[in-house]
Order: sequence, then structure tokens, then C-alpha cells
Amino acid sequence: MTEKYHIVTYGCQMNVHESEKIAGVLRRMGYEETQNKEDADVIVFNTCCIRENAENHAFGNIGALKKLKKQKPSLLIVVGGCMTQEKGKTEVLSKKFPFIDIMFGTLNLEELETLIRQKREQKKRVVKIRETEGEIVETLEPYRTSYPNAWVNITYGCNNFCSYCIVPYVRGRERSRKPENIIAECKKLVAEGYKEITLLGQNVNSYGADGSTGMNFAELLDAVASIEGNFRLRFMTSHPKDFNEEVVKVMQKHRKIMRLVHLPVQSGSNAVLQAMNRRYTREKYLSEIKMLRSYFPEAEVTTDIIVGFPNETEEDYLQTESLVKEVDFASAFTFVYSKRTGTKAATMEGQIPEDVQKDRIMRLVELVNSLTRKKSEKYLGKTVEILCEDYDEKRGLYLGRDEFGRMGYFKSEKNLIGEFVVLKITEANGISLYGEIAENLESDKAGE
Ligand code: SAH
Ligand code: SF4
Ligand code: F3S
Repeated sequence: MTEKYHIVTYGCQMNVHESEKIAGVLRRMGYEETQNKEDADVIVFNTCCIRENAENHAFGNIGALKKLKKQKPSLLIVVGGCMTQEKGKTEVLSKKFPFIDIMFGTLNLEELETLIRQKREQKKRVVKIRETEGEIVETLEPYRTSYPNAWVNITYGCNNFCSYCIVPYVRGRERSRKPENIIAECKKLVAEGYKEITLLGQNVNSYGADGSTGMNFAELLDAVASIEGNFRLRFMTSHPKDFNEEVVKVMQKHRKIMRLVHLPVQSGSNAVLQAMNRRYTREKYLSEIKMLRSYFPEAEVTTDIIVGFPNETEEDYLQTESLVKEVDFASAFTFVYSKRTGTKAATMEGQIPEDVQKDRIMRLVELVNSLTRKKSEKYLGKTVEILCEDYDEKRGLYLGRDEFGRMGYFKSEKNLIGEFVVLKITEANGISLYGEIAENLESDKAGE
């Protein structure tokens, strides 16, 4: 009988895509996927450590496997991702969960196969974490699970050291992939029928900043958007300190590029932004939005916001509220500041009490939701073109997103996953839209 794998993923899109690479490694080794932990012969936890609750979540789920491992000692329990890459974390994990068989990090994913083989030959736990980043490995073919969407890394790591953030410590310095490799991967995806490509990096705008690629981000985006075929293109994450008009001009040149930018602002207060080491001001952020909308008045912006950063006053927080209203974000991911050991902010005085943090996040979520609701209502009676991505079994409806990231649900007898469909919106509920098919645009959506 074929052995089976089960992967549990935490964290960002980068991790979701890395789980596809882990799946690729395991499939090449002959394993097959199972959705069921009980049926698995190997379970991989691809962890995240961006906030304390992400870590607690993983701790809880790994701990819950103790019984299964006891019943089935041949089961391999593997822990990788950002958490294992944290200083001292493998020791903590080893102590807490002596039944873990293998640990690897974000910087040596390519070694997974070797580590599994090694573990099969020895009783002892195998732990291998690389401390420094090596050459980019191009041979890890992902097993993609999100058709019609495909994720493509353009950079790895981060050099920004925002004072609250652990990513630079667990992902290493920024490295850019060679443009020819990125373009070849995208061409292949389009030929295979993928309809939406997302270029991924912690700060896509600094692609090639070390001079190693001969191209900057705008040029790369131009090259990828020039690939012929019926697909749409987006990118994330943009950093406000580097986002620029050159990129927006490339967006204008290609209809394939979605009019949607994820531009995390983090805070609306200059004092907080400075303490966060974000290296832009509220005014610069707002002027970028103005610039973007001078090209595309309809452009949508999504963002990330942190409340309760050390020394954030009520006035600072209100500055964030006023910025949110001014920009009118399509949506915002809102977080309570979480202290990460090893980062600069963790040692700052003026940590904010939990009740104040909670009060601010509740007010902010309420504000963001009310703006999103208002936006949704404007869609009523209008038609939107969406890319059908999935089928929601519970609701019995297909769903997809328009180029502004708005989710639309609809009924269809035929499986339309991977097709562009025009919906007439009949109902708006919170952030979701419901509609009827007005037109199926399959294959006649022109290239440019
Ligand atoms: N590279 C991207 C996003 C990285 S992490 C960027 O620069 O924007 C995703 C989001 O998690 C961040 O935008 C930030 O809002 C949030 N985040 C990061 N560290 C955090 C922390 N210590 N506490 C709370 N939220 C955090
Ligand atoms: Fe973290 Fe800042 Fe890098 Fe984003 S840009 S990953 S928030 S250090
Ligand atoms: Fe992503 Fe979490 Fe790592 S947000 S980069 S998986 S710490």
C-alpha cells in the first residue's frame, strides 16, 4: 500500500506555497496525499511564528498528536517552517514534544528528502536547521493545490527589520530569483491553464535591489505581464517605502495586471511608524494612494494594520482610524501587536496593556467592517467579472474573486472552476456578493 502524507500549514501565502513544495518532495518520494491525520504515515507541520497565537496554535496541534504516535509508532512527525528557524525553538519543541521525529527550517527545505531517509535508518531524532541562507534552490517542483491560482516566488527573505517583526530573523536576508527562472515558471503555468498568477515576496518592490538580477520589480512585472495567454496577474506584498509610479505605469500598460494593491500601512501615526522602523510617513503613504488612483480611480487597496504597538497613544490610534477612512480600503487585516523575542520592539518600554489593545482592535475591526459593507452595497445591480476558483459545498455555490479582490458567489449547474464569468450582483452581505451568471467569458478574454 502506498504511504500517505498530511501537511498542516500555518501563516502567510509564502508558507502556503512552501507547503506545495513540501508536497512536491513527498510525492516524488512516492507518498500520496491524505486529508486525514489518522491515515497518514508522515505528518508535516509547516509552522509560523509571526504572532504568539500562531505559535500557540501549532503547539496545540502538535501536542494533540501524542496519542496517534503512540498507537502508530511508525508515523513520522515532521516540524518545519518559520518556528523551527527561531533561535532556541527546536530545543523547546524537543522538550515539549519528544515524539517529533524530524525538524528542518525555512532555509533547508530542499534537504527534507535526505532527512526523511536519514530518520528511516536511525532511531534518534533528526534535527537540521541551516543558520544562513544559501543559493536559491530552483529544483523544488511544487505540487500545486490551488488551481486556477498559482503562487510564484520572486524574492525570499527580508532586509527591512521592521522593529516588531520576526520574519528577517527566520527567513534570512533578501534574495531575488533570476528573471529567466521566474518567467519560465510563469510561462509554464499559463500553458498549463492557470488563470491567476501571484508574484510573491516580503517586499516585491525591492526585487533585484542587490543588483543580481539586472532587472527591477517594474521591469520584471512588465516581462511577466507580456507573456501571452488568458490569465491575470497580481503581486504581494508591496512596501510603501518602495512602491512607486514606475510600477503603476506598468500596471497601466497591461490590462492583465489586477487593479489591486496590497500595501500594508501598519499605522496612521508618524510617531508609531517611526518606532516601527517602517521608513515612510503617513503623508507619503497617502500620496502613493493618490498617485495610484490618479491612474486608476477604481483601484482597490488592501492593507495590514497593527494596534497596540509600544507607546501607541489614543491619539496615535485615532490617526490610524482617520487614515483608514481616508483611504477607504477594500479590506484590512488587523492585528494586535504581539511581542516577538529577538526583535527590537520586544525590548521597548511602554508596552500597551492587553485591555487597551483589545479595545482598540475591536473599534478598528468595527470600522473596517462598516467600510467594507458600504463598499459591497455599491455593487448591487452591477456586473462584475470574476474568476471562478472553488465550490462551497455548504452553500452549494461556486465562488471567485473579481480583479479588485471582491468575493462573489453564484449558482451553476456546470463546473466553472478556472473560468472567467460575468455576474450580475443581486445581493451584498458583509464582504460577500451574490449574483447570477450574466455571461461566461471562457477563452474569449483577450490577452491584453
Ligand atoms: N512583508 C509583509 C508582511 C509580513 S507579515 C509586509 O511588510 O507588510 C504580515 C503582517 O503581520 C504584517 O504586515 C504585520 O501587520 C503583521 N505582523 C508582523 N509582525 C507582527 C507582530 N509582532 N505583531 C502583530 N502583527 C504583526
Ligand atoms: Fe516583516 Fe517588515 Fe520585512 Fe514585512 S517588510 S516581512 S513587516 S520586516
Ligand atoms: Fe509567513 Fe509566518 Fe513565516 S507570516 S514568513 S509563515 S513567520
